[in-house]
Amino acid sequence: MSLVTHVNPYNGLVLSSRFDGFYDEQGNVFPLVKGVYRFVKSSNNYTDNFGYQWNKFTETQVDKLSQITLSQNRFFAETNWDKENLEGKNMLEVGSGAGRFTQIALDHTKAEIYSVDFSNAVDANFRNNGPHKRLNLYQASIYELPFAKGSFDKVFCFGVLQHTPDVKRSVKSLIDMVAPGGELVVDFYPVNGWWTKIHAKYLLRPFTRTMSHIKLYNIIESNADCLINAYRFFTKFGKVGRTMTRLIPVCDIDGTLPKGLPKEKLREMVVLDTFDMFSPAYDQPQKIETVKKWFLEFGMERVWGGTIVHDEFRSAVVKGKKPL
Ligand SMILES: C[S@@+](CC[C@H](N)C(=O)[O-])C[C@H]1O[C@@H](n2cnc3c(N)ncnc32)[C@H](O)[C@@H]1O
Repeated sequence: MSLVTHVNPYNGLVLSSRFDGFYDEQGNVFPLVKGVYRFVKSSNNYTDNFGYQWNKFTETQVDKLSQITLSQNRFFAETNWDKENLEGKNMLEVGSGAGRFTQIALDHTKAEIYSVDFSNAVDANFRNNGPHKRLNLYQASIYELPFAKGSFDKVFCFGVLQHTPDVKRSVKSLIDMVAPGGELVVDFYPVNGWWTKIHAKYLLRPFTRTMSHIKLYNIIESNADCLINAYRFFTKFGKVGRTMTRLIPVCDIDGTLPKGLPKEKLREMVVLDTFDMFSPAYDQPQKIETVKKWFLEFGMERVWGGTIVHDEFRSAVVKGKKPL
């Protein structure tokens, strides 16, 4: 295993590690607080909705805590990585949320995991997965990653790109982190056609994304049963009814959640996913072809983009390798 060099993302100086954090020769310190290296000046940033969300729903989507295999199936279907070949490899995860995929990478591979999120969701991730001898956790932005370029054999970034302000720049930052011969896999909300934004989410987001998180959460929580019933009612009417559900301000229950969940678990997942629809500062679906084009523009080869089906769900995925 090669060691990852840490750098100060603000001045490019190499960082040394100390028991209480990282520091550079100018005396800048990035402290280790509650098991996480902190590279953000303040937790008050455009992702604080995610901090609120993942600290509230810390365990909801984590496979091993929910007796589901959704994250595991998605991780391996999308990456197609061979578990056995990852021992000693450096793997970077950007935008880890509560750590549902961190758990999969830790429990199903022997890679050294470097996991980053801009929000204080990292605290939820630490509660779920830390401390662990192969886990290194950072609160940092995709645009200011504290690692030397070309450090990672494997990089993945799931469900994050659409929530960043400059998606092309986000892709570039990820590609910068990939080592020669290494691989990057991303998934994101796709643009499916002109109708993509004809959806309750995009009609209401101008209001909901600026609301206080507590207020938005309370509205969703107190209307959850009604929203689930309305969704169920419309889906009785075949394809037309299913299309109509786009106009109900609730997540796509059949399109994103496992079948056969106990009622309370389903409700919890609906509240989480509905909050996740309405609260983010940015929600910018992308065309698969556009993301593929950026991969090629930034020097990746063997670039593949398309839809991957896992369980009965569909993900828009782009992946590629960095030339040796
Ligand atoms: C929808 S959540 C997905 C979390 C996790 N990957 C999952 O699938 O459960 C998006 C995550 O991206 C993070 N994020 C958004 N912008 C970011 C940035 N600039 N740098 C790092 N993480 C970011 C958010 O804080 C949030 O936790």
